[in-house]
Amino acid sequence: MSNDEVNHGRRRVLTVATVAVGAVGAVGAAVPFVGSWSPSAKAKAAGAPVEVNISKIEPGQKITAEWRGKPVFVVRRTKEALEGLKVAESMLRDPLSAKSIQPTYAQNETRAIAGKEDIAVLLGVCTHLGCAPEFQPAIGSVDLGALTWQGGFFCKCHGSKYDLAGRVFQGVPAPTNLEVPAYKYISDAVIVIGEDQGA
Ligand code: FES
Repeated sequence: MSNDEVNHGRRRVLTVATVAVGAVGAVGAAVPFVGSWSPSAKAKAAGAPVEVNISKIEPGQKITAEWRGKPVFVVRRTKEALEGLKVAESMLRDPLSAKSIQPTYAQNETRAIAGKEDIAVLLGVCTHLGCAPEFQPAIGSVDLGALTWQGGFFCKCHGSKYDLAGRVFQGVPAPTNLEVPAYKYISDAVIVIGEDQGA
């Protein structure tokens, strides 16, 4: 066997060894890369429950939180506003929320957790085509129904109207009430959106 043949043989052995090491290296490098495909902290955070401090919401005011990339309206209703929920009940499409989406603990006239009826928590997404309805709390607003308007939400896109419990009026395109997301109280001042009361 000539020297050339020996060197050629060694070169082939070295080449195979290098390829093998390269493959191991590639597997080693792939582990953290594949790891980055698993549900990321960012994706988890996007679906995570959100804490909202409600202590500074004055009666009659609304704040907007964000949960799962959607606006969530949190309204502190006045005593008058709660009483006003009865005024236009006969004009609502689903006054008992039988065909609408809400947790069972919010399927009632105020669509709120018992004992905390002043606070409404509603997805700010019109059930027609998904626009964000405007908060229109002024009672008796002529454009919105005069005496039958006890405050609520108006969707400019195609004219859907909801009362202050997010219940939709008849004769508008939105088919159902605004959705009530899961929520719970962890103190009088803080709610968590995305977790069920009692869970
Ligand atoms: S999206 Fe609200 S009325 Fe059409």
